[in-house]
Amino acid sequence: MPSPKKHILLNAFNMNCVGHINHGLWTHPRDRSAEYHTLAYWTDLAKTLERGLFDGLFIADIVGVYDVYQGNVDTTLRESIQLPVNDPLMLVSAMAAVTRHLGFGVTVNLTYEQPYLLARRFSTLDHLTQGRIGWNIVTGYLDSAARAMGLSQQLPHDERYDRADEYLEVLYKLWEGGWDDGAARRDKQARVFVDPERVRKIVHHGRHYHVEGYHLAEPSPQRTPVLFQAGSSGRGQRFAARHAECVFISPPNKEAARNSVAALREQLVQAGRRPDDVKVFVGAAVVPGRTQAEAREKYADYRQYASREAGLAHFAASTGVDFGRYDLDAPVDYSPGNAIESASKTAQQHGWTRRKLLDLFELGGRYPAIVGDAQQVADELQSWITETGVDGFNLSRTVVPESYEDFIDLVIPELQDRGLYKTAHPEGTLRQRLFGEGDRLPARHAGARFRPAPDPHPLAPAGGRA
Ligand SMILES: Cc1cc2nc3c(=O)[nH]c(=O)nc-3n(C[C@H](O)[C@H](O)[C@H](O)COP(=O)(O)O)c2cc1C
Repeated sequence: MPSPKKHILLNAFNMNCVGHINHGLWTHPRDRSAEYHTLAYWTDLAKTLERGLFDGLFIADIVGVYDVYQGNVDTTLRESIQLPVNDPLMLVSAMAAVTRHLGFGVTVNLTYEQPYLLARRFSTLDHLTQGRIGWNIVTGYLDSAARAMGLSQQLPHDERYDRADEYLEVLYKLWEGGWDDGAARRDKQARVFVDPERVRKIVHHGRHYHVEGYHLAEPSPQRTPVLFQAGSSGRGQRFAARHAECVFISPPNKEAARNSVAALREQLVQAGRRPDDVKVFVGAAVVPGRTQAEAREKYADYRQYASREAGLAHFAASTGVDFGRYDLDAPVDYSPGNAIESASKTAQQHGWTRRKLLDLFELGGRYPAIVGDAQQVADELQSWITETGVDGFNLSRTVVPESYEDFIDLVIPELQDRGLYKTAHPEGTLRQRLFGEGDRLPARHAGARFRPAPDPHPLAPAGGRA
């Protein structure tokens, strides 16, 4: 198989909860995910990932609960399907303190947060991690969240993205436009901490947001965090083409991945960016063994603890379809709803019945596992890269922490031997390490337009420009 020139990028895919993607495995005797609410669980994980030279830890999040399946939260609670779920941002400082290189891609739903405050939270974490923070931009897909936040239901799918476009504009103004580099002089002798002439008020009056104020944080290493995005509907891809630097996809097969990657790269060019300005990560679950037989045994062992029904309840929330109302072989109505359009479309295209989904969710979730010895797993990962054009993987967890440890001890050396994976940590901020073009957004990114124009004359006074 021809070797791709680039190194495979690797994120661990996780969430601040018990059951994330591969449901039911928390009941496995060796699984530690029930300790998600302790700091040691996360600092241990961060150190493990740093040892494995992972590029990042990608932390999913939801606001709201999965109450679509059987019209209630009973299965969700019993199986701990992303409930209880703690705040993901709170984890980062502790993990940053025990690592030097690991990046963090953290999901925050912008629908229920004011941009002014979110801008400061990410700036703070960019400072504390020394430029290792990324933001997975989501707008939510759960009516349960909307109801909890005082709305009768969510905004329609495409409108959520329209709002998000404006939200990002506000953030770029704050992150990119609010302060000049070096404005914080820290000059004790002159008694000037910040030079007032180099900080400006942001004025934004748009359709959805009104902001007049100074960004509360001084410029951080990356200013704008590395921007992740995970929607892949048509509107979702247009949003990604404008804003995203990393896109996360979970296609049903390689052909769908190839089409999705090609469409995204084309949209990037239309948006005035380069086709490789976005790194695409595909979700994967891996069960490796020292031998093929050991991998198969491990998989059989895991399967005994996995919960297919929990996988189905999760998928019900993703698609907005209550599979509890369907007989095993009855055709399912996937007509457009208001959840994850790409998920329902895939299910509709394949005509997935409840029985078929239960078959697919053998390991408790929507990622079919790659099972094998190091050579087999590496072959499969390599074929995903060469055949689809994705740049790397978001590796979901099965039994933790052993699924990460096994991957690091068994698969990574094989990938390194093939020249497909780094052998040392690259230096620099997360953005620099991913793209090699510096710490900040490149000039061709939409966010760069909100930087103040280079001014040959003295700088505008504080309180001036929008
Ligand atoms: C692989 C993948 C991962 C996602 N992760 C999250 C998440 O952690 N939290 C969340 O609220 N939405 C998540 N979403 C939902 C998306 O952010 C987006 O709201 C949804 O996909 C609807 O957009 P689309 O119809 O354009 O796909 C994810 C979607 C995909 C496809």
